[in-house]
Amino acid sequence: AVAGHGRSHAKLILFGEHSVVHGHPAIAVPVHAIGAEADAVPVGGALSVSSDDAAITAREGWQDVPVMAIAATLRRLGLPEEGVHASIRSRVPAGRGFGSSAAVAGAIVAAVADLHGAELDRQTRFELVQEAERVAHGNPSGLDARTTVADRAVAFQRGAVREFDIALQGSFVVADTGVHGSTRRAVADVRALLEREPERAETLLDRLGAIAVDAERALRVGDAQATGGMMDESQRILRELGVSSVEIEALVTAATGAGALGAKLSGGGQGGCIVALIGDGDDATAVTEALRAAGAAGIWSVPPAPHPSGT
Ligand code: PMV
Repeated sequence: AVAGHGRSHAKLILFGEHSVVHGHPAIAVPVHAIGAEADAVPVGGALSVSSDDAAITAREGWQDVPVMAIAATLRRLGLPEEGVHASIRSRVPAGRGFGSSAAVAGAIVAAVADLHGAELDRQTRFELVQEAERVAHGNPSGLDARTTVADRAVAFQRGAVREFDIALQGSFVVADTGVHGSTRRAVADVRALLEREPERAETLLDRLGAIAVDAERALRVGDAQATGGMMDESQRILRELGVSSVEIEALVTAATGAGALGAKLSGGGQGGCIVALIGDGDDATAVTEALRAAGAAGIWSVPPAPHPSGT
């Protein structure tokens, strides 16, 4: 082939961020409407990457994960780790809890496989994205990597996964605090709390895990009230764990004050995005306007049930 093509998508964590790092279950949904694409072309010499997103290339070491994604895929195909350039077109906002680096890596893995006429199954693509992610992010749980290759909602625990269908109506509204949250630091802060106050921290993490189990049931049957209530409780726990922030609290308060059924941070926290649940037939505009007035830097509407788009 002259070029290989691959695509992937953003993800949104609904329940279980942070507790998932410590072995508890978590729930995330693929956001197919926000995509990343990559083209892989043969070139002479070392592996290289380019991206059309200045927010991605502005970061020091941004090439690490994409280059590792090419290398890991070539290695898996039994090919030498050289002679490929990947160009990335990503619509996934970077550093906002949408899993941009996993999405980009997922698109690259698919593009490099396509360049060599190889079909990689979902599990293999997950493993390669996770391998690439590990380089830059220390020790991610794998929730991002797995959701990046998913068609449906994902219930994830210690690398094991179950995809399921969400019956919930209404919509999720995602709002950006505009503050860059370092997932690595937030994860380290939780670990420090576990060392300082093991009993309290373990109780909080256990509860987040238990909520994720109950939430899967509520999402499957479409119980919006219960889902919203569990989002609110998760947010209170995440705040106690030290991963909320003034900006997150302001957006969460604005969303629930304007009628959202529940709201919480999504992803690493200490910045990044919040997710709010709008009930079926409820006024999404009121919530959106309240979020904007409270300083949201970006707002996205995400349907609860993923719509895989022809891949
Ligand atoms: O910040 P994000 O969207 O990459 O999500 C991080 C989720 C954590 O549970 C905090 C970390 C992890 O490895 O799962």
